[in-house]
Amino acid sequence: MKKIYIQTWGCQMNEYDSSLIANILKKKLNYTQTHHSEKADILILNTCSIREKAQEKLFHQLGRWKNLKKKNKNLIIAVGGCVSTQEKKNIYKRSSLVNIIFGPKTIHRLPKMIKEIQIKRKNIININSKKLKKYKFFKNNFKKKISSYISIMEGCNKFCSYCVVPRTRGREIHRNPQDILCEAKFLAKNGTKEIILLGQNVNSYIGTFENGLKCNLSKLIKLISNINNIKRIRFLTSNPMDFTNDLIGIYKNTPKLVNSLHLPVQSGSNQVLKKMRRKYSISEYKKIINKIKKFRPNIYITSDFIVGFPGETKKDFQKTLKLIKDIKFDISFSFIYSPRPGTSASRLKDEISLQEKKKRLYLLQREINNNIKYFSQKMIGTYQKVLVEKKIYINKKKKLFGKTENNRTVIFNGPKELIGKFSYVKISQAHMQTLRGKYKQII
Ligand code: SAH
Ligand code: SF4
Ligand code: F3S
Repeated sequence: MKKIYIQTWGCQMNEYDSSLIANILKKKLNYTQTHHSEKADILILNTCSIREKAQEKLFHQLGRWKNLKKKNKNLIIAVGGCVSTQEKKNIYKRSSLVNIIFGPKTIHRLPKMIKEIQIKRKNIININSKKLKKYKFFKNNFKKKISSYISIMEGCNKFCSYCVVPRTRGREIHRNPQDILCEAKFLAKNGTKEIILLGQNVNSYIGTFENGLKCNLSKLIKLISNINNIKRIRFLTSNPMDFTNDLIGIYKNTPKLVNSLHLPVQSGSNQVLKKMRRKYSISEYKKIINKIKKFRPNIYITSDFIVGFPGETKKDFQKTLKLIKDIKFDISFSFIYSPRPGTSASRLKDEISLQEKKKRLYLLQREINNNIKYFSQKMIGTYQKVLVEKKIYINKKKKLFGKTENNRTVIFNGPKELIGKFSYVKISQAHMQTLRGKYKQII
């Protein structure tokens, strides 16, 4: 039986796509997945190009695989994801090891491409497709999971000035709500308790039912929350620009929607936001949070930040630090600005030194880490509702691994029957994002 090895980088959408790749190749070619690259007949890289470093990873990895290709002349190397759609055939120019270049929209054509290459041994590039056929393979080769992703849309229409996504993933295509519900019900039937809805811009989701009626994100969340066995719902990622009152409203009466929201603000300065083409102001951002807090006073807010955007002054950066204090952001992601090919920001003059950018990143992360510590410490002594996902081994001792609503990992002793269930755990120790505790009761 032939084997594939898949290496995935980038966002959760790439992770979801990689599981589809495994499903499609199992169904169409009966290939199974291996976690050892040296045992594989096909090596697949699902890449990300959000920042320069992420993109360069591809060529470093190809360098590491050179020897495998030397040993096995029939080894096929396929590169997909956002570097493929961005660099296209330039990838062949930089590396002669690659045989197939595919994109997030042509995953379903991989079996055909692989067969073709086995016969002709000629490099293939197949990136564009108007329709998304990959999603229908969600059932094949299915692996049980307590927490599962469902991708609800592909691409982005926002064109923030720094971002490659609208170019690499293309314009938005929205899956229809029946298909999403069908996937959610299938997952629920097979043990999934938590669903994470995915898209670069989930809050602009607008699907169409068979009867022509429209379905937005809040309606979709409502429909999913009606599925009995689904107990928790999260969604990733939202742009504050489209965070409507309708979506805010579902925090009031959808208890399955977690008490935690990832709402990337990027910067605390209106001037920078304008140059980023984010199309909201800090006061508008705060208004959204305040409205949600009316229904969920203790909601945890997390964010993404970019430091060192062209023209970001020390004053602008101070405003970001102030916003972090004001909102008290929890676990967040922060990056040094990276100019990306084809984006409008890449034409802006970048006069901030690398040293200054690194300093700003350090100061920002220090502020965020203080918040994370504060929230984690506050959880000590409290009972947390933990969704138990799996067992793990720490120093050869079996433990249970679960997640709280605010995405902290909890490790504790307990019977394996708790896996897939909610249990109350009394938190006894807090190490940044990981908590330890004692199990009290199943819910
Ligand atoms: N759709 C999401 C963001 C997805 S990309 C949103 O609009 O919020 C994930 C994060 O990568 C972004 O939030 C941003 O913080 C970061 N990012 C994107 N492009 C970047 C770039 N050119 N340089 C540095 N960070 C970037
Ligand atoms: Fe990129 Fe902006 Fe779209 Fe997010 S909303 S994916 S940052 S263009
Ligand atoms: Fe990266 Fe593409 Fe996702 S650029 S973050 S893999 S959409």
